[in-house]
Amino acid sequence: MSHDMSEDKLPESHGSAGQHEVATHGDPFADPGLPAHEPRRTDIDERAAKRAERQVSLMFVVSMLATVGFIASYVAIDADKIVYIFPLGHVSALNFALGLTLGVALFCIGAGAVHWARTLMSDHELPAERHPIEADDEVRADVIEQFKTGAAESGFGRRKMIRNTLIGSMALVPLSGVVLLRDLGPLPEKKLQHTGWDLATPEHPLPLVNMNTNKPMKAEDIVVGSLTFAKPEGLEEDDETFQQQIAKDALMLVRIAPENIKDKDSAELGFEGILAYSKICTHVGCPISLYEQQTHHALCPCHQSTFDLADGARVIFGPAGHPLPQLKITTNEEGFLVATGDFAEPVGPSFWERS
Ligand code: FES
Repeated sequence: MSHDMSEDKLPESHGSAGQHEVATHGDPFADPGLPAHEPRRTDIDERAAKRAERQVSLMFVVSMLATVGFIASYVAIDADKIVYIFPLGHVSALNFALGLTLGVALFCIGAGAVHWARTLMSDHELPAERHPIEADDEVRADVIEQFKTGAAESGFGRRKMIRNTLIGSMALVPLSGVVLLRDLGPLPEKKLQHTGWDLATPEHPLPLVNMNTNKPMKAEDIVVGSLTFAKPEGLEEDDETFQQQIAKDALMLVRIAPENIKDKDSAELGFEGILAYSKICTHVGCPISLYEQQTHHALCPCHQSTFDLADGARVIFGPAGHPLPQLKITTNEEGFLVATGDFAEPVGPSFWERS
């Protein structure tokens, strides 16, 4: 609005609120000014103000109780317990209780704050005049003064019951998030440092099984330029721990013409140009599934880490900090690809010391 209100005298308001008359002085676009202020009941009746104060505090207290209920539900309710709730139907009792209590805790803080503002804080409307963006010292001092006045009028210091219950409810609500840390599960200890290929030994090699066909793989089936995914023999999709296990065991097999393999140590871990790398990205663990056969680059779709499979899966782009671990493979007397041991280092995200 380009109209500078500072140059105008605000027109007088006449009559009661709701009958606000506009003093236009013959100007059809004159600033109509503010309607007459009408005090609220809590402004003129101290008992009404006290009642509103108790209502606000009650909401903050209910918020605190709901947060305690959230934590109690989390500890006491069995995660597998199912209950019938109309009209939702059968739902997890734990999820329902957590959602309900957290919802009530947050709602009561919001509702209490709104009720406080509407009934007890100052509701005098003031025109906000436009100023240059950079305020001078006088204006800044004025703002600080207004801030102090606002703080005084909000009653934050004076209405101790509201202040204390608000602080209590705000302090308790974050505890809901703290107890959820338990869902991060038990510490993995050494479990992440070994995979299902751990069962393989030079004396008892473990066959590689094609993840699509579920059949053992012969070296001659892997052609140059192809990308094949494999898992250890014995790991079946209907196993209870399949998802946890495949997240560590999944292999990515490529065949590169031996003369194109730059890393000779890597070539020795493979078999006639067939190289078996972990499919789990060393950044934060996404499964890698994109392979560019001309450049031998494997790309992680999550954050574009790129690994050169012809050069020991060295990281050539992206946030991953380590090459993909490589599994030593060979063939058995029937020509099937087998592993003779586990990866030499942990697979997946490199959040611990790696060798
Ligand atoms: S998980 Fe692969 S780049 Fe982030």
